[in-house]
Amino acid sequence: MKIVVIQGPNLNMLGVRAQNVYGPMKLEQIHANMESFAKQNGLEIEFFQSNLEGEIVDRVQECLGDADGIVINPAAYTHTSIAIRDAIEAVSIPTVEVHITNVARREEFRQKSMVSAVCAGTIVGFGPFSYHLGLIALNQILSEVKAMKESQAQQQAQQG
Ligand code: DQA
Repeated sequence: MKIVVIQGPNLNMLGVRAQNVYGPMKLEQIHANMESFAKQNGLEIEFFQSNLEGEIVDRVQECLGDADGIVINPAAYTHTSIAIRDAIEAVSIPTVEVHITNVARREEFRQKSMVSAVCAGTIVGFGPFSYHLGLIALNQILSEVKAMKESQAQQQAQQG
């Protein structure tokens, strides 16, 4: 199973950017933690960060036929990007939306997510640990999808 982690604008500045809001952990450390969870659970994992909306749309599209699941933090584009939303919907790959901060208790403009409706679920507010929780959730979803496919294949085989 392959998971692609997609990070939106300014997340490359974690550890430098507003530490009172996002904490001191750098993106590299978050990815290293995710990588070790992936290894322990037999998952292949790839990371991508971009400050450009179109590049994020391209990366989501590239997941088609290549990845089994996506963890995405579209960052500020969460609140504005119909293009990223449409790309997630188009590829139809189980996707978990993650936010470091609890966007529900921040400024009003952060309280609307364009992508939530096309994601399997959303995890917010646990700091960098949100990514770990997102990965656990996605791993669970992928196990369920796999089990369902196996049981359908078994049923079909029994039916002849
Ligand atoms: C964020 C929340 C967004 O509102 C913000 O623009 C970010 C990070 C988060 O992870 O908490 O860049 O997605």
